[in-house]
Amino acid sequence: MPTELIVALDVPDARHIPEVVKSLPARVAYYKVGLELFTAAGPEALTYLKDSGKQIFLDLKLHDIPRTVARAVESAASYGVQLLTVHACGGSAMLTAAAEAARGRLDIVAVTVLTSLDQQDLTSIGVTRELRSHILALGQLAIDSGLQGLVCSPLETRSFREMLGPAPILVTPGIRPAGAEAGDQKRIATPAMAAADGSSYIVVGRPILEAPNPGQAAEQILAALGQ
Ligand code: C5P
Repeated sequence: MPTELIVALDVPDARHIPEVVKSLPARVAYYKVGLELFTAAGPEALTYLKDSGKQIFLDLKLHDIPRTVARAVESAASYGVQLLTVHACGGSAMLTAAAEAARGRLDIVAVTVLTSLDQQDLTSIGVTRELRSHILALGQLAIDSGLQGLVCSPLETRSFREMLGPAPILVTPGIRPAGAEAGDQKRIATPAMAAADGSSYIVVGRPILEAPNPGQAAEQILAALGQ
């Protein structure tokens, strides 16, 4: 499967969405709406994308009791979302409820451990497993619970692909085109590296949105993905 580009719409409100979408090549088909934009604009953030025929990755990292998460999944499906995130540490019952609510309507991918956390942070919340083992175990739990895939950093994409085989969706943020600034991203890969590691989707925000010419930056990333 070719690796596809998802552009992170990290903008403060819905008014900015059309200007970003119009500045990028029409073949950019997938956009991520995250907490900032969804908290500010709600479903209005999704309407323009849906009406423009774009696919929507809603990155809300849901983590609540199973029934509440299932209801939120149904709500997201009604707005035409194709891909939604939940936290794997919500546990097996929550993950299964999310998977069942989503079945045949949208795909759910799990976040394992936020890249902002380190071993010391895990210890402080009572997790004694080694960070990497914890990430791999949570990933396996999410897949065993019926989810379609995972969000993983470039450091884990290859291991997850080898461990899980070809079917799961692997979504990889932390992407920087060759020679770009890393910003606050610590674990980074180029688009071509993520593709070679088996990523299904790369998520790119600032390298496109903050480029002097966003359209050209997106074209270069698509070219690096062979598109
Ligand atoms: O760094 P960049 O602007 O490309 O980030 C794009 C998106 O990836 C952001 O919306 C961010 O929330 C998400 N993300 C990330 N790093 C992670 C996980 C998610 O930057 N480790």
